[in-house]
Amino acid sequence: MDTSSPSLRVGVVGYGHLGQYLVDRLLKDGPGLGLVLGFVWNRNSEKLRGLVPAELILEDLSSFANRRCDVIVEVCHPQIVREFGVHFLSRCHFMVGSPSALSDLDLNQKLQQASVQSGRTIYVPSGALWGGQDIQRLNDGGALKAVFVRMSKHPSCYRLRGDVLADWQEGEGKRVLFRGSVAELCPLAPNNVNTMAAAAVAAGTLSFAGVQGEIVSDTELKDYHVVEVEVTGSDGFSVHTVRRNPAKRGAVTGSATYQSFWNSLLICKGHGGRVYLC
Ligand SMILES: NC(=O)c1ccc[n+]([C@@H]2O[C@H](COP(=O)([O-])OP(=O)(O)OC[C@H]3O[C@@H](n4cnc5c(N)ncnc54)[C@H](O)[C@@H]3O)[C@@H](O)[C@H]2O)c1
Repeated sequence: MDTSSPSLRVGVVGYGHLGQYLVDRLLKDGPGLGLVLGFVWNRNSEKLRGLVPAELILEDLSSFANRRCDVIVEVCHPQIVREFGVHFLSRCHFMVGSPSALSDLDLNQKLQQASVQSGRTIYVPSGALWGGQDIQRLNDGGALKAVFVRMSKHPSCYRLRGDVLADWQEGEGKRVLFRGSVAELCPLAPNNVNTMAAAAVAAGTLSFAGVQGEIVSDTELKDYHVVEVEVTGSDGFSVHTVRRNPAKRGAVTGSATYQSFWNSLLICKGHGGRVYLC
């Protein structure tokens, strides 16, 4: 009797830093772990030539269903979550690499409806968030009162809407760029606050409007990003974590986040029609 579980076919949408990392790992380590690369899509498919086997390059994302994947991983931009998320969920599980997209209440509801209807899972990778599952447990137990996330990075690591950082200079030190709800922060810095978005998913009862965040520019942070999470529960319970995530100068994504995404992908085997922090 064959007791091995069937392979999981994975489609990768986006071939930037994270996409390249995941594709390389899928080609190298996937088969031994029951993962098979089903396709890779990038908005400019020329970037894939010579790097990805030709038969795995998907030219037109609208034809993703022909590749019969079990899970699709988005690692490019919140816009693709907006345009394709519901379609993906009608066919397979969906790992949302840009969860800042979920701060859009209307989109969030549509995706959740599609997930419930299809019985397929919306996976949100915890990325650089430490303790996400603990926050979720506190939330599910009704004891979560407040969550605050501060992300501090070198100014070269920010991709912000507007020109708030246009005039930064080396050596200037710390500058608080924005403080407010994660719902407000996501549209301002969609590429930089995915960790906060993951915290807002974990803290479902507080929602994106209830979880607070702050982004700080700090010219001293040349080699790493800092993510601080403050969680408050009932009866005086509180936790404060500080994570130093090594990161190259100018990098949006910290180095440890790559491995974290890979670990998240290994979990995406189907958890029913719901949002699952992994
Ligand atoms: N969840 C997390 O913790 C976490 C951590 C890091 C990055 N991210 C997010 O994951 C995504 C990928 O990160 P990365 O480090 O690989 O970024 P990257 O900039 O290296 O790559 C992004 C890729 O997407 C493409 N792209 C950009 N805008 C697009 C659009 N509108 N439509 C289609 N393609 C587009 C780019 O050409 C590039 O190939 C980003 O949205 C980033 O914010 C999430």
